[in-house]
Amino acid sequence: MKFKLESTDTTSQARAGTITLDHGIVETPIFMPVGTVATVKGVHQKELKEEINPDIILGNTYHLYLRPQTPILEKAGGIHKFMNWDRNILTDSGGYQVYSLSANRKIKEEGVKFKSHIDGSFHFFTPEKVMEIQRVIGADIIMAFDECTPYPCDYRYAKRSMHMTHRWLDRCINHLEKTPLKYDYQQSFFPIVQGSTYKDLRKESAEYIASVGAEGNAIGGLSVGEPAEEMYEMTEVVTAILPKDKPRYLMGVGTPINILENIALGIDMFDCVMPTRNGRNGMLFTAHGTINIKNKKWEADFSAIDEMNITWVDTAYSKAYLRHLFTVNEMLGRQIATIHNLGFYLWLVREARKHILAGDFSSWKKMMVEQMDKRL
Ligand code: GUN
Repeated sequence: MKFKLESTDTTSQARAGTITLDHGIVETPIFMPVGTVATVKGVHQKELKEEINPDIILGNTYHLYLRPQTPILEKAGGIHKFMNWDRNILTDSGGYQVYSLSANRKIKEEGVKFKSHIDGSFHFFTPEKVMEIQRVIGADIIMAFDECTPYPCDYRYAKRSMHMTHRWLDRCINHLEKTPLKYDYQQSFFPIVQGSTYKDLRKESAEYIASVGAEGNAIGGLSVGEPAEEMYEMTEVVTAILPKDKPRYLMGVGTPINILENIALGIDMFDCVMPTRNGRNGMLFTAHGTINIKNKKWEADFSAIDEMNITWVDTAYSKAYLRHLFTVNEMLGRQIATIHNLGFYLWLVREARKHILAGDFSSWKKMMVEQMDKRL
């Protein structure tokens, strides 16, 4: 992996760069659409590539391990071949899903015992096992196995958990060195900063994570219910410490406004289920605010979904038609909303990049934040 920093904004910490991986170049800042079980829900790969056009998407170790299961992915020749996606993929480690999805999980120093949310079967994840699974899945960027603490989280628990995440990180690194690549391309490994909402813990964690000298670094444990201001404070503490010459990935964030604010604090990579999940629920993100397309007010509104026409669905269909599809619970409605939202998120980070390169990011961000902070 190669990271090239092209430009740093003079009035904020925002950066524009490129990450070169074996499945193509990723221009940063980037938003990675979430494809949990080897599909970005409701969008086929042709449309994902041609309309939304992301350089990288995300998959989840926890889900892929449970279904289709690792041996199937190995037989397929890795996730790229399995899902017919020849661009980059990042897999999250399961360090978040194990805590958010599975019941009866038991966290010990050795690892986490958890009950599948699908069939109730028991499984055990250790840092070593998660590295082996991620080798087989075969993403271009793989994540450390960590514990994502909830919010709120008492100080003593957050501190103990963070230290365990650091010890798990050492185990991940040791084991990866002994686990050969499965396919004919490289995998880059990113460790994850934890520390809940405590500045001193975040600082300690960022210093530890920076010290291992990984190719890129991630920040976890945020966007778990804390006020946005606290999230930004934590990002600021951490980005001041993480190396400038490596990409920084803020996991699971967020709203369009959260993304712009965190770009201003020096974040390069994002992922979030919001554009896809909220889209399936009828929530549309636009440059002028959010729309609940199920609302009766759109019943006879025959104007385009979004005049900006970022993706073809935006002007091909009216608000009234999209509302109708949601009212009658047709899957096409969910597909259109997903394409629209992902198109908008990718447009937003590409615009941010343009403005960083042009030198007017801060004034553009201020205008966009005001403009997007509305319900239409
Ligand atoms: N996704 C969102 N937050 C987190 C986190 O803290 N850890 C991991 N592994 N994934 C995440």
